[in-house]
Amino acid sequence: MSALWQRVARLRFAKSDFLACAWNLGALIPAVSPPVGASIRPADPADFPRVAAFTQHADFRGTRMQPNDVEGRYHKGHVCFIAAWRGEIASVSWIRFDDASLRLSGIEAPLRPGEAYVTAVFTLPAYRNRGLATAVAADQLRWLRGRGLRAAFLWVHPRNQAMLNVVRRTGWRPVGRVTQVLWRGKERIPLVNLSAVLDPADPLSLCSSRRLTFTAGVSVFRRGSFAWLPVAELWGSQSPSSTRGESIPFAGPAAGRQT
Ligand SMILES: CC(C)(COP(=O)(O)OP(=O)(O)OC[C@H]1O[C@@H](n2cnc3c(N)ncnc32)[C@H](O)[C@@H]1OP(=O)(O)O)[C@@H](O)C(=O)NCCC(=O)NCCS
Repeated sequence: MSALWQRVARLRFAKSDFLACAWNLGALIPAVSPPVGASIRPADPADFPRVAAFTQHADFRGTRMQPNDVEGRYHKGHVCFIAAWRGEIASVSWIRFDDASLRLSGIEAPLRPGEAYVTAVFTLPAYRNRGLATAVAADQLRWLRGRGLRAAFLWVHPRNQAMLNVVRRTGWRPVGRVTQVLWRGKERIPLVNLSAVLDPADPLSLCSSRRLTFTAGVSVFRRGSFAWLPVAELWGSQSPSSTRGESIPFAGPAAGRQT
């Protein structure tokens, strides 16, 4: 069997998995204080060189930028939140309002008016586990709500435990999941796309066939998770016990003061 798998692996197939999380901006936002020594705010043009320098340390795809890339995003209306620690940028997270696509995986997800997409979340390794990304996420939600936005989305890898902790603590809920088999050539080409709307009561979910498209491959859309790809254990103890064809109740933010 292992020889068979090795042969399959040599054929350059890859599997990818994304959990779509949503925030209803009418909901309560947990009060999360930034750690002592940290300050959080949207970046302004004076910050662009430092933001670009920061992204050179990012160890995940698509986040290394030059100052003109940062400026270009700014002019497109994207907003970069920064958490500074004693004057140095320690954590960054972007918001955009046009598109939640994952182009490297052939996933096209345009946004509608009133929606936002949180992306490129990164904390420098030396500053992790101090609550910076959590405090940034809570500030972003307050900032979005203050601008009258209706909903926000983000994608997270279901095994990214640190990011799952951040989104769970700031009250996001899982609304969809995309599992793909891709051909891993010069580019990644989707062969099979399984898209599950985890909350059947949410017809406009990010993962519904009404809004999500794939650039290639056979696509299957389903309301409720695919039985053999359960989500509950990925989401942890706050998730519902079953996600198969049932509505996922919004667990709400962790107990504590709300804003
Ligand atoms: C995900 C990331 C942004 C979190 O940043 P951060 O500033 O350390 O986040 P916080 O300190 O607010 O919270 C991290 C939480 O994850 C926990 N955590 C960290 N690493 C973990 C791990 N390997 N397994 C389980 N939990 C982990 C921390 O204990 C903390 O939870 P707690 O406060 O309940 O103890 C950071 O780890 C990072 O930059 N990772 C690489 C880029 C990335 O994956 N970005 C997300 C893309 S969607």
